[in-house]
Amino acid sequence: MERRFPPIILTVFLLLFRETYSSSTTKFTPTDNFLIDCGAKEKVESGDGREFKTDSESTAFLSADDNNLLFLPKAPEGIPSPIYLSARAFTKEATYAFTLARPGWHWIRLHFHPFNPPGGTFNLSNAVFSVTTDDLVLLHSFTIGDVQKWVLKEYIVNATTERMAIHFSPLKNSFAFINAIEVVNAPDTLISDEATNLAPLDDFKGLSDFAFQSVHRLNVGGPLITSVNDTLSRSWVNDGQYLKSKSTGKSISVAPTVIEFPDGTSNLIAPNWVYASAMKMADAGVSQPNFNITWQMSVDPSFGYFVRLHFCDILSKALNDLYFNVYINGRKAISGLDLSTLTGGLAMAYYRDFILNASLATDVISVQIGPMNQPTGIVNALLNGVEILKMSNSVDSLDGEFGVDGRVASSGMSAKKKIVAVVGILMMAGAFIGLAAMVVKWHKRPQDWEKKNSFSSWLLPLHSAHSSFMSGSKSSVTASHRAGFSGGIYSSTLGLGRYFSFAELQEATKNFNDDTVCGVGGFGNVYIGELADDGTKVAVKRGNPHSEQGINEFQTEIQMLSKLRHRHLVSLIGYCDENNEMILVYELMANGTMRDHLYGKGLPPLSWKQRLEICIGAARGLHYLHTGTTQGIIHRDVKTTNILLDDNFVAKVADFGLSKDGPTVGGNHVSTAVKGSFGYLDPEYFRRQQLTDKSDVYSFGVVLFEALCARTALDPSLPREQVNLAEWAMQWKKKGLLEKIIDPYLVGKINIESMNKLAEAAEKCLAEYGVDRPSMGDVLWNLEYALQLHDAAPPPPPDSDSDDKPPSSTAGSAPSSLIPEDGSAASSGVGIGAGAVRMPDDRSTTVANDAYAQLAGMTGR
Ligand SMILES: *[C@@H]1O[C@H](CO)[C@@H](O)[C@H](O)[C@H]1NC(C)=O
Ligand SMILES: *[C@@H]1O[C@H](CO)[C@@H](O)[C@H](O)[C@H]1NC(C)=O
Ligand SMILES: *[C@@H]1O[C@H](CO)[C@@H](O)[C@H](O)[C@H]1NC(C)=O
Ligand SMILES: *[C@@H]1O[C@H](CO)[C@@H](O)[C@H](O)[C@H]1NC(C)=O
Ligand SMILES: *[C@@H]1O[C@H](CO)[C@@H](O)[C@H](O)[C@H]1NC(C)=O
Repeated sequence: MERRFPPIILTVFLLLFRETYSSSTTKFTPTDNFLIDCGAKEKVESGDGREFKTDSESTAFLSADDNNLLFLPKAPEGIPSPIYLSARAFTKEATYAFTLARPGWHWIRLHFHPFNPPGGTFNLSNAVFSVTTDDLVLLHSFTIGDVQKWVLKEYIVNATTERMAIHFSPLKNSFAFINAIEVVNAPDTLISDEATNLAPLDDFKGLSDFAFQSVHRLNVGGPLITSVNDTLSRSWVNDGQYLKSKSTGKSISVAPTVIEFPDGTSNLIAPNWVYASAMKMADAGVSQPNFNITWQMSVDPSFGYFVRLHFCDILSKALNDLYFNVYINGRKAISGLDLSTLTGGLAMAYYRDFILNASLATDVISVQIGPMNQPTGIVNALLNGVEILKMSNSVDSLDGEFGVDGRVASSGMSAKKKIVAVVGILMMAGAFIGLAAMVVKWHKRPQDWEKKNSFSSWLLPLHSAHSSFMSGSKSSVTASHRAGFSGGIYSSTLGLGRYFSFAELQEATKNFNDDTVCGVGGFGNVYIGELADDGTKVAVKRGNPHSEQGINEFQTEIQMLSKLRHRHLVSLIGYCDENNEMILVYELMANGTMRDHLYGKGLPPLSWKQRLEICIGAARGLHYLHTGTTQGIIHRDVKTTNILLDDNFVAKVADFGLSKDGPTVGGNHVSTAVKGSFGYLDPEYFRRQQLTDKSDVYSFGVVLFEALCARTALDPSLPREQVNLAEWAMQWKKKGLLEKIIDPYLVGKINIESMNKLAEAAEKCLAEYGVDRPSMGDVLWNLEYALQLHDAAPPPPPDSDSDDKPPSSTAGSAPSSLIPEDGSAASSGVGIGAGAVRMPDDRSTTVANDAYAQLAGMTGR
């Protein structure tokens, strides 16, 4: 127990210095006070006594191409302020820019009310847009959806210059809207530069470098406080809905006027109303109460949080009687909080700030208070207020993981493992020559396929989270048009890729000489080229010039694909559309496919660390596809032949631009390798024909087991129960004997915990139902954890060869096959059933798969 001042001395001390505490309320008059009621024709009483500028008074701040003023003639129930009855909509990027009196903390408040104005051009529920400042992402691909409710987004940012610009960037083919904007400065003291870091418990400095978004603000034990009664126009809600067990707490309150603010606090931190009410322990009357009161508030776990707790002892009758513990997310944040000593009195305001690092975030922040275990003083605890603010991430975003400048946030855990990005320009010619030779056999009748599918359909993955895989190419194109990017954010940094003249590409490929062909597909050939200007090796994919379809779609898709840029996606370098040509130029991947390095090609085996890093890279690429764009892009054909390696063995996902429909080979065969390859196919997708990103997660689970076991996903030459890797590995995983079937090369070299972590992730990916599978983000996290476990493990003894060798990993024997593992598929009758799917012989199937992988894939820059 800590030392305490004897109460009497303390009281005398306090009486002497009483005067320094002020109970008078400080009033803050902002020097910057931009309040704009967008679209409003007339001045309205805002509801809290503040006056918002009308639209015509505020046009000086706005630069926009269009002028769409929207009104709702009649106020619906429950709208707190008339500022929600008018709006401005923007179909192009628009900017409100303000000149500030001085830099420092500023509130940005954005008010949205998704009404449906008469006249009907803009249904505000459908708007999808991003909101940024010059250097901060506030909202990324934001859509309100169908809630007929007003929404307030509140931010606190430290303006570093005297300009504050707020950009509204509609998604392609959508629009942005805003009902009202506030840019108001806040007192410097509102957020100091320091706080307590929770884990490790430590001082944290540098808060003024972050931006914050208000997520929760609770007046614990008290009523709703709206902007009228707050000192800085904030709102504080009652804590009831966050209280885990209502019976544990009891509210108490005193008259707000008795609250005093010692030095270092003020009613600007929180109004006296907040401190005048609290929750205390309900059953404190029993002789030895021993429980916590718990509040739980949900948050987005990918961010760090600033947690401010407000306390004021309105419970004790005497000084130094109340001591209690405070926990945040189960960690002791304050041990034996002694308010009397800290504040020097009763009913005095006190607050503490904590930082919850993103690396320990869960999707709930819990705040608990409970008595100390010592039998001293009264046994109780109390809490008056809670504020939870989201902190901007490493790329200055408060929404999503992409910065204004296109930077992508790396997850906290991997940051230390950043590998310097080096783009491969070498290639392994041998691999491609072999491939080209095989591919020729497969390339029989490209035209058949081309007729049925527009050019863009071979570029396009599906976008919608729920598109049926039966939909034709037409609908997939439409879907892609709806999808896309927050143009404003990216267009500034990413162009359309480079434009190549036809002559340039002719030169690069020796006039599309057959000798340079490295892949052949229904749409045309893929050539290895070398750019004349800098010798960069590239993969050149030339659409069939006889096709008359799709030029426009081609251009649209170039725009889209060239924005799909990620370190772990094979990237498009440029394109050529001269003379109706449709040519795409990709980076060339020097080390070929992941599969080739696992088995079948006799290449040196990859170490466990390399395999983990490759899986992590691929997971990142897929995570980006799923979340980096508004509606998400579903790859649809995740497999080890679609994960390519550059000359540094950095994994990149390929083929995300390929069509859902493959060529017909010889007539009665598959619709395609691309609808999913057997062995990787999500059983739920199969049954319900509903494609979701969780189908990719399933396939990725198979990839993980492939990396571990170094065998094909489907090997018909094996005994029945071993044919399908997913089933086979799951059986052994369930028995806890997975190490019996892993790649013999890894036996004795692999850290078992690391292996188990990966296997756990794989098992979750292979869950029967999509809803039970993790997101790619979660998978990624687990893989990074597996890598950490590997790195932390001591190297195994050199000789640990086990006598109990796993069954042969069948490396190199059978090629992957499209034969479904059982007859059930045959009944689906949608072109992917057994009847429709069989390939003439296994070999050509494999070639087809590899060819697909390479087409989008080859690299070099
Ligand atoms: C506006 O869009 C929402 C969401 O798509 C839809 O539910 C609603 O019916 C639309 N309202 C009107 C009047 O079209
Ligand atoms: C805002 O940031 C600047 C530069 O980082 C810093 O000097 C200043 O103190 C900050 N302002 C406040 C109020 O923290
Ligand atoms: C807000 O202030 C008004 C006027 O002072 C008062 O009547 C009302 O009770 C206050 N409400 C809250 C929740 O503080
Ligand atoms: C209160 O919560 C903390 C953190 O979750 C826990 O360690 C402690 O045991 C709890 N106390 C009681 C009495 O349940
Ligand atoms: C979060 O914690 C990790 C590990 O303790 C540390 O390296 C990182 O700097 C912390 N981040 C912040 C924002 O404090």
